Amino acid sequence: MTRSIRPLVAGNWKMNGLKADLAISAEVAKGYDSELKASVDLAICPPASLLYVASAALVGSRIATGGQDCSPQASGAFTGEISAAMLADAGASFVIVGHSERRTLHGETSTLVKAKAQAAQKALLVPIVCVGETRDEREAGKALAVVKKQLRGSVPEGSGAATLVVAYEPVWAIGTGLTPTVADVADMHEAIRAELGRLLGKAAASGVRLLYGGSVKPSNAAELMSVAHVDGALVGGASLKAEEFLAIARACA
Ligand code: 13P
Repeated sequence: MTRSIRPLVAGNWKMNGLKADLAISAEVAKGYDSELKASVDLAICPPASLLYVASAALVGSRIATGGQDCSPQASGAFTGEISAAMLADAGASFVIVGHSERRTLHGETSTLVKAKAQAAQKALLVPIVCVGETRDEREAGKALAVVKKQLRGSVPEGSGAATLVVAYEPVWAIGTGLTPTVADVADMHEAIRAELGRLLGKAAASGVRLLYGGSVKPSNAAELMSVAHVDGALVGGASLKAEEFLAIARACA
């Protein structure tokens, strides 16, 4: 944790969730008690189909919502795409961009991710820019270099604490139950903070929230969150269970 930074725990529901699953966000809201509210921010990123209704249901809960992707374009003939302004209009405060599932399955480059992050900022959404190395890259000793390169390509110039969140998600840790060692997380988050310092200036970089994501569970959250420069979590599977998501939030608090 960085003591001066208020942590954020964001849930990425991915392509999961029907209307009935809004019971999950309702239960999270119920469990987000005054003690948690005093020390940790929460965000839920449901599928786009649920964003408006989830956001409306969470008004007054102090739980933010976010999209999982956005178009780099503002509007127009882009069938199937969703703009950052549409997400904001539906109640979102955040949008995940450059998730490894988008980079891998949809061939998204850092150049595109940066354009999406810029579109998000223009719509007054805070982009959660995801970076992370594959298993092969880690085994080849290239993890730090790969992530720094992704940051240089993906982070908009002029971003700062109020307009950017970065999530480090090692690809091999997503949905696998595997996590890096505490030492590896510490090295990576320190390197991310330093690289952001070079890109944005030290003062701006010092307040940017750096989330760790990849198999975060109630059982490992406290250990991961104790690492320097880990300012919260981006949670996949465990965010679909209210109790687990809240337990992770408590570990951050
Ligand atoms: P899991 O928590 O299921 O490993 O997913 C992490 C993730 O991809 C969050 O964006």
